[in-house]
Amino acid sequence: MTIERRERVEGAPGRFIMERYRDLLPLTDRTPMVTLGEGGTPLVRSRALEAELGLGELWFKLESTNPTGSFKDRGMVVAVAKAVEEGARAVLCASTGNTSAAAAAYAARHGLPAYVLVPGGHVAMGKLAQAVAHGAQVIAVDGSFDRCLQIARQLAAREAVALVNSVNPYRIAGQKTAAFEIADDLGDAPDLLAIPVGNAGNITAYWAGFVEYRHRERSLRTPRMWGFQAAGAAPLVRGAPVEDPETVATAIRIGNPASWRGAVAARDDSAGRIEAVSDERILDAYRRLAQDEGIFCEPASAASVAGLISMAEAGESLRGLTAVCVITGSGLKDPETALRVPTVRREVPAEVGSVARALGWS
Ligand code: F0G
Repeated sequence: MTIERRERVEGAPGRFIMERYRDLLPLTDRTPMVTLGEGGTPLVRSRALEAELGLGELWFKLESTNPTGSFKDRGMVVAVAKAVEEGARAVLCASTGNTSAAAAAYAARHGLPAYVLVPGGHVAMGKLAQAVAHGAQVIAVDGSFDRCLQIARQLAAREAVALVNSVNPYRIAGQKTAAFEIADDLGDAPDLLAIPVGNAGNITAYWAGFVEYRHRERSLRTPRMWGFQAAGAAPLVRGAPVEDPETVATAIRIGNPASWRGAVAARDDSAGRIEAVSDERILDAYRRLAQDEGIFCEPASAASVAGLISMAEAGESLRGLTAVCVITGSGLKDPETALRVPTVRREVPAEVGSVARALGWS
């Protein structure tokens, strides 16, 4: 018996963004259709925060469930495939961690070497572990992410490597698919999209995705875009680059975002906002997501939720609105931040009485 098949895709066909949104992506017959199962991420409804904030509906887009644990996979699956199609022999990026993990994984999948530049001492342990495990050559630079990106751009201009930072348009194209999925899942775009902002590629991509979907009449409207930066790394809020950005949310510890203009356009064209949230508020939202919603994200991801809470406290009316918060990366990326809270008790003897006492049960 012969089984009829659609075009075969290596990996996990059902939820593969390059197949599902092929007509909206810059692919050709020669683009290698290689996947690690990126996209098709869950949209999960809030249990506690929705009512507390007076929202009609609050949803979390769990980009943390992508293969390498962050939204970067959507852009990287396209960028590395296009790099191969265009004959690149290696990929290069600067990264606060997640981009390097994704670049390393997709380069490995295509059999290409990956080179990554990271700000020394400021990358969460899980991300570094990923890049190393996938065999990337990791260079810790004595400088900020912004400096790493400058250097990477200069190197890419003179070597035969593909630069796979979000200055690469294929990254933005791939990341747009998250907006398509949200509109598909909700039946239309939400009223509000809350998103953390670092190098500003993702807010640029989401806005492009929502605009394109409406233009093609696959949705009826576009959302207001609410971007949130960490207070110690908030150049877009200040309106000027920040020389020494600092925040517990190392993923968005960025002082001069490459997609500056894209972020400003997303804000202005959507009648949206870009605001700053303190580290204290980020960590508070991080704990609330984990403990009240069952969602373990990395600190940068919690900036979107911290921002929504701050806006509600500042008197912004959210009544009846449908909002989506983008949960950009997994909490497992940064176990050190999770364990900073003193909740792990010291070891106790291995017997019932001691354990029960330690639990406060006797
Ligand atoms: N959330 C996480 C978990 C990130 O890793 C990043 C960026 C962002 C949010 C912000 O997205 O840069 O598009 O505005 N991480 C990059 C990296 C910079 O190198 O992994 P953005």
